[in-house]
Amino acid sequence: MRQLLYISTASTGASIEVGAILATSQRNNRRDGVTGLLWTDGYRFLQVLEGGDAAVQGVFDRIRADPRHRAIVVLHDRAIEAREFGAWEMARRGPTDTADDFDARMNRHLESASASVRGTFEGLIAARSAA
Ligand SMILES: Cc1cc2nc3c(=O)[nH]c(=O)nc-3n(C[C@H](O)[C@H](O)[C@H](O)COP(=O)(O)O)c2cc1C
Repeated sequence: MRQLLYISTASTGASIEVGAILATSQRNNRRDGVTGLLWTDGYRFLQVLEGGDAAVQGVFDRIRADPRHRAIVVLHDRAIEAREFGAWEMARRGPTDTADDFDARMNRHLESASASVRGTFEGLIAARSAA
């Protein structure tokens, strides 16, 4: 089982339809047995993908070729014993979410994540909310 974590930035002028990305990802990732979490504020993306070696590679190859984002940096790519994210989830802080609601939701998503994955998500979210 493989776990890949990357960060990227929305391309300038790209119209990012988060709902459309979610719908495509849900469909494809279920088919490919890939789970994980995509966090976005509409500008940065932080995504963890988990599944079989070839399945994760296939999904990531498609994602990497997507012109809607750029500056894709793999933060880690490692073998794991078991999935840390059992379902495919996507998290975005909506305009009506309070910070507390959003934090509670992220905490639920990150409940079984390893310290390093949790720390990466928390660090980015803290940096983006301070920006
Ligand atoms: C930030 C970001 C994350 C994405 N995550 C996924 C994903 O987890 N799974 C997926 O199949 N496509 C994902 N996509 C979409 C792919 O880049 C690509 O458009 C899609 O896989 C094509 O699927 P289709 O051939 O079924 O239309 C993502 C795109 C972006 C910009």
